Amino acid sequence: MPSEKAKPARPIYHCTICGEAMPWAGGRLRLICDNVACHGERPRPSPIEVREGDEHDRLALMNVSRRFFGSSHIHAFDEVFPLARTPFLVVEFSGERAGYMAYALNFPENDEAAVVLLVVQPGFQGRGVGTALQGALEAVCRPKGVTQIRVSSTNDNIPGLYFYQRVGYVVDGITLGAAAQVIAEHGEVEAFGFGGIPIRDEIQLIKKIGSLEPTI
Ligand SMILES: CC(C)(COP(=O)(O)OP(=O)(O)OC[C@H]1O[C@@H](n2cnc3c(N)ncnc32)[C@H](O)[C@@H]1OP(=O)(O)O)[C@@H](O)C(=O)NCCC(=O)NCCS
Repeated sequence: MPSEKAKPARPIYHCTICGEAMPWAGGRLRLICDNVACHGERPRPSPIEVREGDEHDRLALMNVSRRFFGSSHIHAFDEVFPLARTPFLVVEFSGERAGYMAYALNFPENDEAAVVLLVVQPGFQGRGVGTALQGALEAVCRPKGVTQIRVSSTNDNIPGLYFYQRVGYVVDGITLGAAAQVIAEHGEVEAFGFGGIPIRDEIQLIKKIGSLEPTI
């Protein structure tokens, strides 16, 4: 959730049928089986290489965050995280940055970490980039003694909530009205997210990373 004054632009998704990027409120969910012919099993380039972001990447990360979330400061867990200072991971395909994951170590406790921002560019969604970034974050965290990772999303972001639970997070708490409050602090009466659903609540999820067993 954004903290700068700019009117927040909501993240966009990528239509898996026509391939076009869609406005946040234009998203619709379809149920499909995992048959390749139904596009339920998408081609996933392998291996996907994830690297630590450098200062050139950081400018791109901050621009993407402003475009998707209206700010380069991210509100989550009752904190504000400036992307100018957070460590982050990048996936790049043929010189094009496909996805970013910014994180905070030692938050809120020494043996915990938090996902500050996860964005996969619309044209690269559904190809395993988000899953690869999550795996890379766990690989960063484990040697540092981190035992669990937290993330927060909003009530409307059904694809995001689906994604996080598919990669092993479980819902840990819901702060009713928290997202609406941030939106009000930015002078907006109401904001609408995925599918035009009013954005109201912050949903916190947690993943214990002690086990090395894959979750998908
Ligand atoms: C949510 C998001 C990070 C997922 O990244 P992704 O690279 O598309 O995800 P993956 O390809 O690794 O797919 C993992 C699972 O998430 C599902 N998924 C979630 N969002 C999806 C999307 N936009 N397109 C296709 N699949 C998506 C996939 O179906 C897949 O599930 P499956 O294993 O049952 O097939 C990405 O869609 C995104 O950047 N969304 C906008 C910003 C956002 O909402 N960020 C996170 C919440 S704060």
